[in-house]
Amino acid sequence: MSMEKIDLKTITEHIESLPTLPEVIIRLIATVNDPDSSADDVKEILVHDPALAAQILKIVNSASFGMYERIGDLNQAIVLLGFNRLRDIAFTASVIKALNIRGGAQFDFRRLWVHSIVVAQLAAQIAKTLKTARPEIAYVVGLLHDVGKILMYRYDPKMFMEFVRLAKDEHTSFGEVERRMLDTDHAEVGSWLAEQWNFPVELIHGIRYHENPEKLKAYIYAGLCNVAMYMGTVKFFAPPGDFNPVPVDAAIWDRIGMEKQVFFSVLSAVEREKDLAEAMVGAGV
Ligand SMILES: [Fe+2]
Ligand SMILES: [Fe+2]
Repeated sequence: MSMEKIDLKTITEHIESLPTLPEVIIRLIATVNDPDSSADDVKEILVHDPALAAQILKIVNSASFGMYERIGDLNQAIVLLGFNRLRDIAFTASVIKALNIRGGAQFDFRRLWVHSIVVAQLAAQIAKTLKTARPEIAYVVGLLHDVGKILMYRYDPKMFMEFVRLAKDEHTSFGEVERRMLDTDHAEVGSWLAEQWNFPVELIHGIRYHENPEKLKAYIYAGLCNVAMYMGTVKFFAPPGDFNPVPVDAAIWDRIGMEKQVFFSVLSAVEREKDLAEAMVGAGV
């Protein structure tokens, strides 16, 4: 008799406390979803959360962020960074605060956040360049694409670390191991959380299919995220827990209708993204 494999339901029913969605994230996601939102909407949100506003100023004034002048308040931050950038930072800081595993984790979640932020920035940059999707949604998909890994760890840290070990021994990705051992994977678990949080449906699909080669064309944000993951790995580093060699896939840009030239121009435009990601995680975790 074979044991039944653990599925999405088992995992989500056994996660001890579902991370509750902070009010500030509900408000920020509403501005992401609304193409007519403006700097004032974002400012209004931040004014009501002084701790977050202070944290944002700490991030943008940190050395690795590389601003030439000191940013003293939110108005100045909006002028110098633009409100999209400011919203991305606010969203990132709030999400890390809500979901981060604090203390004693055996897995390098800090590095996973840096990876996720890099992917978010790249996905947004590609969307902006191609003009086929909304950069702000691409950003959030990139930021949250691996959030299911955090829930997997919360469900069973021992199982999680065993999967990391298997991935290492077999030179494969964490997701491959999950899909073999379980009846679900971090992509499905992460999209479940996004659903619980009432996030827009294209965002849920982007997370759900980010590692599914057959769906990347049909779901634009999954495709963008997948290409951004590839670029982030080539340009900076492989996400912790993944031990597959970078897939040399000449047709990767094809998946999202990107020309080879665009691919390389985006790749060379992102020199500083890792520094920016480090700045966000450094001040937030
Ligand atoms: Fe990833
Ligand atoms: Fe993933």
